[in-house]
Amino acid sequence: MKTLILPASPQAIERAAKLLKRGDVVAFPTETVYGLGADAFNAAAVRKIFAAKGRPADDPLIVHVARIADVELLAASIPPVAKKLMDAFWPGPLTIVLPAKKSVPEAVTAGLQTIAVRMPAHPVAAALCGLVGPIAAPSANTFSKPSPTTAAHVLHDLQGKIPLIIDGGNTAIGVESTIVSLAGAPTLLRPGKITVEQLKKFLPALKIVTQVKESQKPLAPGMKYKHYAPRTPVVLVLKPTPERVQTLIAAEQKRKKHVGLLCSGIYHTTADRVMLLGPTADAAAKNLFAALRWLDTQKLDIIIAEGLPEKGFGLAVMNRLRRAAGKII
Ligand code: TXA
Ligand code: MG
Repeated sequence: MKTLILPASPQAIERAAKLLKRGDVVAFPTETVYGLGADAFNAAAVRKIFAAKGRPADDPLIVHVARIADVELLAASIPPVAKKLMDAFWPGPLTIVLPAKKSVPEAVTAGLQTIAVRMPAHPVAAALCGLVGPIAAPSANTFSKPSPTTAAHVLHDLQGKIPLIIDGGNTAIGVESTIVSLAGAPTLLRPGKITVEQLKKFLPALKIVTQVKESQKPLAPGMKYKHYAPRTPVVLVLKPTPERVQTLIAAEQKRKKHVGLLCSGIYHTTADRVMLLGPTADAAAKNLFAALRWLDTQKLDIIIAEGLPEKGFGLAVMNRLRRAAGKII
């Protein structure tokens, strides 16, 4: 199959909508990362997403909607606090898990009794959902690789496997949506741009479950898998100082290792490759996945990543870094 890339335009959106309506998959930009979408009510189309990504069938998908009324097609019940979260944060990077309607294909829910929904803020994603109806879409990367933040990332992973990518440039946020479950006791399943602090205003008793041991039954099935992992081993340094990081780099280089560095500020370093993520969590989130993907092309033996404070949006960036890392020191 030839994979076409079209710059975002009304014509490209029309073409994508046609493909989606006839049961094909299409990659498109959202404000978080690129998604690989299919008509949520067409099980055969949804299965094409799993095939293209190599995603395990027990990992359910997020369904994207253009209007709050469409949530009623997917959720069996919507608690009042969910409505409040929708009013406060939609359209935007918040996914809400609710009890699922029986009519939602099992391919979407992976057989769970719940459904994850979000209303994207990106104009291309919003327009597609408006034309097609609810669209099931995970991130448009090969399973376990860093999520795509450019059309080129999608092409790298899925060339020849999907018919169309809509190119909307770099995504604004850079890491995936916050996921909160309201199907039982309110629980944060994945940190994102909508922070714990913001959610606690509506959900004072919010529980935080974003890391699970292999043996536990994870609430978000995706959590049990290694994620965001480049091929090159990543070492995450908590509480980094330039001296401490440079000492680690020098020790690796003494053993003839080629070292890549992911850092938040500029200082003298002997690292073979450096990616500056920037001083804030916003900058780090925007640059993180592209940086991991680029460092992975540089024939390095090790990537040393500087940790950042785990508060506010920093919690989301660190969640992705922790899961990319083979070792945390
Ligand atoms: O920002 C985003 O959320 C992007 C864009 C494309 O919208 N989507 C995305 O999907 O990142 P992805 O690839 O992370 O997959 C969905 C995640 C998985 O970790 C999955 O386990 C979890 O959402 N999930 C989906 N349905 C769920 C459910 N019913 N209960 C718990 N977790 C669920
Ligand atoms: Mg993903």
